Amino acid sequence: MKKVVWGVLSTAKIGWEKVIPAMLKSEYCEVRALASRNLEKGRKLADQLGIAKAYGSYQELLDDPEIEAIYNPLPNHEHVPLTLAAARAGKHVLCEKPVALTASEAEQLREVADKVHIMEAFMVRFHPQWLSVRERVRAGELGEVRSIHTYFSYFNNDAGNIRNMADIGGGALYDIGCYPIVTARFLFDAEPLRAIALVDRDPQFQTDRMVSGLLDFGQGRRLDFTVSTQSVPYQRVQICGTKKRIEIEIPFNAPLGGSTKVHTDDGKRLDGGSTSSEVIAACDMYTLEIDAFSQAVRGAIPLPYGVEDAILNMRVIDALFASEKTGAWVAV
Ligand SMILES: NC(=O)c1ccc[n+]([C@@H]2O[C@H](COP(=O)([O-])OP(=O)(O)OC[C@H]3O[C@@H](n4cnc5c(N)ncnc54)[C@H](OP(=O)(O)O)[C@@H]3O)[C@@H](O)[C@H]2O)c1
Repeated sequence: MKKVVWGVLSTAKIGWEKVIPAMLKSEYCEVRALASRNLEKGRKLADQLGIAKAYGSYQELLDDPEIEAIYNPLPNHEHVPLTLAAARAGKHVLCEKPVALTASEAEQLREVADKVHIMEAFMVRFHPQWLSVRERVRAGELGEVRSIHTYFSYFNNDAGNIRNMADIGGGALYDIGCYPIVTARFLFDAEPLRAIALVDRDPQFQTDRMVSGLLDFGQGRRLDFTVSTQSVPYQRVQICGTKKRIEIEIPFNAPLGGSTKVHTDDGKRLDGGSTSSEVIAACDMYTLEIDAFSQAVRGAIPLPYGVEDAILNMRVIDALFASEKTGAWVAV
């Protein structure tokens, strides 16, 4: 397969720390250009990472005819505008999560969805630990899965961090609440019917710093989750069936160079004595994501997740924010 030629929008931390190194490892991808609002900053990072071209504006990258696909890790309020601009310039786009600020904003992407590939960058869906757990759920190993319980938190009160800027899409639900939602939809293979949320806002930043949500998937199935931007770092997913429980130890930030563990318990003992653990070999879930998207661009595989999937995830976020205002259940 001829490598897909990629360009990266901005010097975002997630880019230089995780995704660009993952792209450089991919046999299906060449990173040829990087754009920053500041040419000097962009040139420096491009040189460090061995990227041939640097641009001092996003538009110059979108105008480059050599670039076939764009990775968009801009702050959340720029996801739809720049993804649309890139798509209108004929580029495929892997856009960071959340794809938009609202479902109706995400719907704007429908205009270009039949011309180029657009995928929301939920890398966890490519990690073998999630794929294997989903297989086991589908095979009925846990009995009927009725409850998923997810916790995801970190502590960040830096006023200069985009996560603490309400006007550009900061807050816990956009940053990490999207993960419990997308993984519950992934495991249940279904969409929630309604949602309710309890939200605590930071008095200074006005961002949602702690969100607990309950999603009703019907037929007695639910996700309950808490996410926080100001709590001790912790992440865990519990999937409880009628016969067994699975616990994913590092569900969202699985170490790139290290293995992860998935625990299974049939509940015969309550002190952990009936738990067995499976070690999942080290992998780079970002490379797996880039590989899949690049192969889809070449038509070698179908696009794994597209605009409609991203809109569905945003609908749930919309419902949770609406529930914050009314204190009541909101239809998704
Ligand atoms: N999938 C994952 O594992 C994962 C992990 C972390 C973050 N993310 C997502 O990736 C995105 C970026 O997160 P990050 O923490 O990497 O962000 P970040 O380090 O703050 O970088 C964002 C970049 O956007 C550019 N930018 C354009 N307009 C800006 C504005 N008004 N304010 C600040 N920066 C602006 C800047 O680049 P230039 O100055 O070079 O133009 C900046 O470096 C977010 O959407 C986040 O949800 C995903």
